[in-house]
Parts: sequence; C-alpha cells; structure tokens
Amino acid sequence: MTAREGDSYVHALRFRWLTPLYDGVVAATTRERTFRAAVLEQAGLRPGQRVLDLGCGTGTLAIEMASRCPGLQIFGLDGDPEVLARAERKAVRAGVEITWQHGLATRLPFPDSSFDRAVSTLFFHHLATEDKVSAARELHRVLRPGGQLHVADWGPPTSRLQRLLFLPVQWLDGFANTTPQLAGGLTDAFRRAGFEGVQVSRRIPTPLGTMALHRADRA
Ligand SMILES: C[S@@+](CC[C@H](N)C(=O)[O-])C[C@H]1O[C@@H](n2cnc3c(N)ncnc32)[C@H](O)[C@@H]1O
Repeated sequence: MTAREGDSYVHALRFRWLTPLYDGVVAATTRERTFRAAVLEQAGLRPGQRVLDLGCGTGTLAIEMASRCPGLQIFGLDGDPEVLARAERKAVRAGVEITWQHGLATRLPFPDSSFDRAVSTLFFHHLATEDKVSAARELHRVLRPGGQLHVADWGPPTSRLQRLLFLPVQWLDGFANTTPQLAGGLTDAFRRAGFEGVQVSRRIPTPLGTMALHRADRA
C-alpha cells in the first residue's frame, strides 16, 4: 500500500537517506530504554495475546516485546518497506518471530476486533491532525472490546527548557504535525476516535522534549 494524496507520511528521520542513522539517533537522544520499558510494563502483556505495534519503524519496540514476553503474537506495521526490511533483519539477529506488515495507519489491513493490545512509540507526531484521529479510529476498530492502547509520543512539555529542546524535532518532522501534541492533541484524538479512559499516565523529560505515555481503553 502506498501513500496517496491526503495521507500524511513522514519517513523515520524525515529524509529516506537518514534512515540508516535512525537507531543511533534515537538511542542517543530520547531515553528510549526508559520510555519503551514504560510502554511495555503499562501494556500488561500476557502470552497468547495478539499485539500490534503501529508505525513500528526499525522494530526496536516489537523486538524488545518479543524478547521480554515470549508467546505473544506480534505484528509490526509501517508505511516504509525499507524500514521494515531493517526491522526484519534485526528480528532474525535477535532470534524472535514477528509478522512485519507494510501498510498505512489510516487504512489498517486487519479485520475488526483482531488485537488484544496496540502499542505505538514515536509515531503519531508524524501524522496530520485529522490523520491522527483516523489512525486512532482504525486502532479502535482492530482492537477487540476490552482491548487497550498504549502510546508514547511527544506531548506537553514539563518545563520551558523542555519546550525549547523540542524545536529540532519540529524542524525535522514538521511544525504542523507536531505542534498540536504540545497542547494535548493526542488525548483529544483518542477520545474523538471513541476510546475511553484516555489519560497521560507519565511524562518523561528527554534531551529532545517531553515524552508522554498514554493509555486508552476500547470499551
Ligand atoms: C519516528 S519513526 C518511529 C519508529 C518506531 N515506532 C520507534 O519507536 O522507533 C516513525 C515511523 O512511522 C512510519 N510512518 C509515518 N507515517 C506513517 C503512516 N501514515 N502509516 C504507517 N507508517 C507511517 C515511518 O515510516 C517511520 O518508520
């Protein structure tokens, strides 16, 4: 599935030629061990569950999930086939089994009620406001009743310094897509999509701004 006019799509580091640097940049700048561990702990994963990692990129979260919790059925979806090829190579090296799926967040290629959990990290700020809502609606559709959504992404800053530190991310990934998240745009998007119990459970300051950990319930 390729992006069509109107779909918001931004590469992992905006420019395709920067993708080989992605894992190193994220490791050095985002406190990824802290926020990824927080997402996986909050998700309360159990063997046998089907889990979707939306906008999985190079697969770091999905691979960590598979290593921490054997027995999950994990699907990683991303709009970039090149980044998925990287994810696949990393999973083979780690010795874990994950289904990598090419597709767009606003048109998920999965049936209704097919997942117990959906997780997503550093992804939603790549989408335009209306696509954040469309992607959240798709997650609501593919989660089963009683399912949960756990998302870590840039959110309201914890200080003025944190606001300033976020400017390079905005320059790279686009002001239009990132600015609404500073004012709680993601919680709005999840509520508009029909999720209940939407909350920011933790805010994690990083060298590139504040990471907000969200949770939401599919009633
Ligand atoms: C910053 S990366 C995050 C990757 C990974 N989740 C992580 O935590 O490292 C954002 C990813 O979203 C993907 N992406 C952007 N827009 C998309 C869309 N509309 N549908 C699916 N994937 C998309 C990009 O290809 C990229 O791999």
